[in-house]
Amino acid sequence: MEEKLMRKLSSGSLDFEAYFSDKAQGMKASEIRELLKLVEAGDVISLAGGLPAPETFPVEIIKEITAEVITHHADKALQYGTTKGFTPLRLALADWMEKRYGIPTSKVEIMMVAGSQQALDLIGRVFINPGDIVVVEGPTYLAALNAFKYYDPKFISIPMDDEGMRVDLLEEKLEELRRQGKRVKFVYTVSTFQNPAGVTMSLERRKKLIELAREYDFLIVEDSPYSELRYSGEPIPPIKHFDDEGRVLYLGTFSKIFAPGFRLGWIAAHPHFIRKIEIAKQAVDLCANPFGQVIAWKYVADGHLDEHIPKVIEFYRPRRDAMLEALEEYMPEGVKWTKPDGGMFIWVTLPEGIDTKLMAEKAIRKGVAYVPGEAFFAYRDVKNTMRLNFTYVPEETIREGVKRLAEVIKEEMNALKG
Ligand SMILES: Cc1ncc(COP(=O)(O)O)c(C=O)c1O
Repeated sequence: MEEKLMRKLSSGSLDFEAYFSDKAQGMKASEIRELLKLVEAGDVISLAGGLPAPETFPVEIIKEITAEVITHHADKALQYGTTKGFTPLRLALADWMEKRYGIPTSKVEIMMVAGSQQALDLIGRVFINPGDIVVVEGPTYLAALNAFKYYDPKFISIPMDDEGMRVDLLEEKLEELRRQGKRVKFVYTVSTFQNPAGVTMSLERRKKLIELAREYDFLIVEDSPYSELRYSGEPIPPIKHFDDEGRVLYLGTFSKIFAPGFRLGWIAAHPHFIRKIEIAKQAVDLCANPFGQVIAWKYVADGHLDEHIPKVIEFYRPRRDAMLEALEEYMPEGVKWTKPDGGMFIWVTLPEGIDTKLMAEKAIRKGVAYVPGEAFFAYRDVKNTMRLNFTYVPEETIREGVKRLAEVIKEEMNALKG
């Protein structure tokens, strides 16, 4: 539809492409979005998305707070705000982070952004010179790669295991770079219930990463949209908790613990870094949505956030369990997957030789969709992995989806043998 319209509009007229900047010429539509278009067309169970379940949105609370905000705080909510954000919300979040994560309010300043996705772009603007080395996890959050890529860094991808980033391999790499007279600008990590792999960096590795940051003089960008969604196991403090010097920029978001439609996230970092990011944000959008910020302030300050999180957890836990059980029941030998204690995703690794991108269309024909893993690697050099989401569809559908997927995988494995 869109393409037809584009062709119709562009026939015989301008050479539209020629006007784009070199950078824009290099931009490509996300493969996930392209794939999801196919899914919408048929009777396909989608384990591909990354959306929270709408049933978890606290609609009644939002109704109540919105009425209150319009009645009593319209002057603030409907006006431009400061670039750093609505101060009562920033203070409420600082308090919340101190209680929840043991990050002293005296050590961080909080700045509101239009979702943590905007924080990633602003961090790219403020920290990355072309050629600067940025370390990412392999696999990592695809849209972070895309946000940073715009600023032309050189990525180094560090493999992960069940305890998150292999910090030992990072250390080897840092040593090698030091011998070459090079250094890393920052390490980007989704430290807890990672997107896409579902794994969590262990406590020891968090401490080691901070030590390495000090020793080799780099920053850490800790992106943590999922840490509150814990279904089992014990909480681990964020890396930011161990940060005495201000090396860690922590990214939080309301997307998974409130509603993504507000487009509200925050950066908790040293005031010196916040000051510069604030200047960068001024040129982008002046300020994050003030209406949403005033609502979010009431949501946090009146204790709704703390009441709501356990409800989201109770809603998602059976879905996580259903997916793990179905994988156990249906997947053939030789297929491996992560067993997350929280978050939204499970990462599946198939035997070498199977290309999940090539397999995706077959799977959709069989009525199930996933995200091929390749795009989550900075150098797209791993072909046999996939990301499955367990938050969006109900348990029964998850089971059926995994069953269909297992059939496709068995066929591929047989074809590989034959
Ligand atoms: C790791 C990670 N970072 C950032 C985001 C962006 O979240 P938002 O912009 O909604 O805060 C997401 C969303 O899925 C994510 O998975």
